[in-house]
Amino acid sequence: MSQMKHIDNTPSTPGKCKMEKSPYSRPRLHYSLAKLTFWSLVFIGSIFFFFFRSPSSSSPVPSDLSRRSLRTSSYSGPAWEKRVRASAKIRSRNGISVLVTGAAGFVGTHVSAALKRRGDGVLGLDNFNDYYDPSLKRARQALLDRTGVYIVDGDINDVALLKKLFDIVPFTHVMHLAAQAGVRYAMENPSSYVHSNIAGLVSVLEVCKSVNPQPAIVWASSSSVYGLNTKVPFSERDRTDHPASLYAATKKAGEEIAHTYNHIYGLSLTGLRFFTVYGPWGRPDMAYFFFTRDILKGKSISIFEAANHGTVARDFTYIDDIVKGCLAALDTAEKSTGSGGKKKGPAQLRVYNLGNTSPVPVSNLVSILERLLKVKAKRLIMKLPRNGDVQFTHANISLAQTELGYKPTTDLQKGLKKFVQWYLRYYGNGKKSAQ
Ligand SMILES: NC(=O)c1ccc[n+]([C@@H]2O[C@H](COP(=O)([O-])OP(=O)(O)OC[C@H]3O[C@@H](n4cnc5c(N)ncnc54)[C@H](O)[C@@H]3O)[C@@H](O)[C@H]2O)c1
Repeated sequence: MSQMKHIDNTPSTPGKCKMEKSPYSRPRLHYSLAKLTFWSLVFIGSIFFFFFRSPSSSSPVPSDLSRRSLRTSSYSGPAWEKRVRASAKIRSRNGISVLVTGAAGFVGTHVSAALKRRGDGVLGLDNFNDYYDPSLKRARQALLDRTGVYIVDGDINDVALLKKLFDIVPFTHVMHLAAQAGVRYAMENPSSYVHSNIAGLVSVLEVCKSVNPQPAIVWASSSSVYGLNTKVPFSERDRTDHPASLYAATKKAGEEIAHTYNHIYGLSLTGLRFFTVYGPWGRPDMAYFFFTRDILKGKSISIFEAANHGTVARDFTYIDDIVKGCLAALDTAEKSTGSGGKKKGPAQLRVYNLGNTSPVPVSNLVSILERLLKVKAKRLIMKLPRNGDVQFTHANISLAQTELGYKPTTDLQKGLKKFVQWYLRYYGNGKKSAQ
């Protein structure tokens, strides 16, 4: 009863407690404080226990990745493993099982769907980062889900997760497309390029070299490695040591890293230098995409020109042509030769341009969009800023033609028509706006 009274007398505003002088009440206050301290310690202790239990907490990774790893550590259990196995199950004779990184991305979604359609086993991996609208990535995920492709929500730097996936499925191939893309964003967030394009690539290769059997790896480099080259068209034999952006430098570094893993561990590695890929389900940070959005909104668009009114042009390549090139690279990839982390003999090391061979001035791209959208663009002609963009790209594709049977068939007019049809459908005739 006396205890009840004590509680009843406690003022509601902390700090305003009038200490009673009575020796009788002092031990009671101490008792309450001790209890409060005890439970606070239990609470803090349980938080510490929860964090340090995470398998990746020991690795020096950025805090956002630790959070992601906490999430990925929940990926376990028989139901999850069954889902992984079902997605990666080969359903055709001579089929392959492919781990597609960056599967919720533009190219990754199309490549995953194409592999699944022909009966290959496909498992996706993507961290669904917010470099651009993640709802578009989730919509692509839903699309793939309907075809039977499961995308694991995880980071390529999460080595424990990668190992676990290889424990469940002995992938024959890895299609490594996860990367921090975009040239201009590199000035805003340079470390994201190092995290995904360098550290992430090394994590993927580290796991691939140590599993048995080692998979063959096809991965996305970029036409941006040609940087400030002026000799056209760009050939695989040309120099690639003048990158014009950090993005380009990380892709060039990737090519050197690929050489090292091929040389030391016998990994079969094929790098694909994509040239400005466009099409349905594309990337909102690319000019053809945000020009479409801004033209429909009646906003002005900036069209760059080089010094002395020089034309800025791109070798725009339609997504279906790129997908054919990716599949051909997977199909012609030889097996890796190493095992147990040791090289047993020389392994294949290749690099190919995958472009369209016909560069189009960006102003012509805008004219095509105007015709397709039936809206006149408000053009602002501006000087090409020195923030990573180059004046032109133009692919020599003869090597890919000879060795992969690569032959692009979609011109910009036809390809943009398909893109605009998709855009209007997806964004409700442009009423719902892309971010
Ligand atoms: N689209 C092009 O024009 C083009 C041109 C040249 C090269 N590339 C290269 O092709 C590949 C695919 O490009 P895209 O256009 O589909 O880009 P995208 O941004 O649409 O796809 C990349 C995907 O990788 C994921 N990702 C990024 N970092 C990750 C990480 N650390 N862990 C797990 N997932 C991660 C992203 O969430 C994204 O879904 C990239 O490597 C890109 O650099 C693209």
